[in-house]
Amino acid sequence: CRVGVVGVPFEKGQRNTGVSRGPEVLRAAGVIQDLSSFGCDVKDYGDVKYEVVPAGKQLSNMREYDDFAACMEKVSSSVKQVLSDGRLCLSLGGDHSMGVGTIDGHYQAKGDLAVLWIDAHADINTSATSPTGNLHGMPVALLVKELADYWPYLPNMDWQVPMLSIKNIAYIGLRSVDEYERLILEKFGVTAYAMEDVERLGVHEVTQRALEAINPNGERSLHVSFDIDSLDPLEAPSTGTTERGGLSLREGVHIMETVFASGTLGAMDLVEVNPLIGSEKDVKITVDAARQVVRAGFGYKRRGMPPLLKQEI
Ligand code: ARG
Ligand code: MN
Ligand code: MN
Ligand code: MN
Repeated sequence: CRVGVVGVPFEKGQRNTGVSRGPEVLRAAGVIQDLSSFGCDVKDYGDVKYEVVPAGKQLSNMREYDDFAACMEKVSSSVKQVLSDGRLCLSLGGDHSMGVGTIDGHYQAKGDLAVLWIDAHADINTSATSPTGNLHGMPVALLVKELADYWPYLPNMDWQVPMLSIKNIAYIGLRSVDEYERLILEKFGVTAYAMEDVERLGVHEVTQRALEAINPNGERSLHVSFDIDSLDPLEAPSTGTTERGGLSLREGVHIMETVFASGTLGAMDLVEVNPLIGSEKDVKITVDAARQVVRAGFGYKRRGMPPLLKQEI
């Protein structure tokens, strides 16, 4: 495979210091070598940088909005660039507000998308429903056409037009959904497999059903946005909003193996790794889990790889 890596050292979508160091620790741990070790041709596009343009007015309940708007415009153009170069895109976060930039860039390069959002949380609050004002809880609501009328005018976001159909998004791993988020999911009949569904049906069935719902003919480019807090805190303790009772690492890897096997992956985000949360050992466990999830998405097989015939994978 051919992959381009984009680092997004952005952490202002939530309140903990440290998530902006995700790209740095993931690279240092060897995410890129992991991929090249089984034949991927990987190019590192470096970290996204941005300059803030003040919006001129304070937006209610959207913390650090000016930085968000400026950064995501750059994220979008970086992701678009990677995909236009004929590579799959791996974006390393950073907090989950960056999904606005990565999915926008993916859409600009590939058009109609299917989105698999793997997360303990639904991240579909608007500024009116968010209990926290943290932008990492709002990216999906900014991306979908169906909620466009529920936002005020957003200065410096004219580059971003809501383009996703809410029916082309599926969730796996939910276990902390706010009241109005639940209302939105039910009102629009969003495909959402919460932990109780994973428990009842098993991860294999849930993943098949999710992909079938959002991409029945496999003609859409698939965007996987993987929040590390979808995993159980035993597997991924170093993240800002842990919720117990989550996916095992095996389940996370299985989802990503299935994604790879579908042949539809266009771009993947790996977000919310915070190396300043927990002990050194916690950070290592979390980063190792992230690496396993990422390499599975790009073709690594736990049963062992076939001998390489010069970058065939
Ligand atoms: N629902 C909560 C909020 O709106 C938590 C969101 C957590 N999001 C995340 N990407 N970890 O603030
Ligand atoms: Mn999230
Ligand atoms: Mn989350
Ligand atoms: Mn099956």
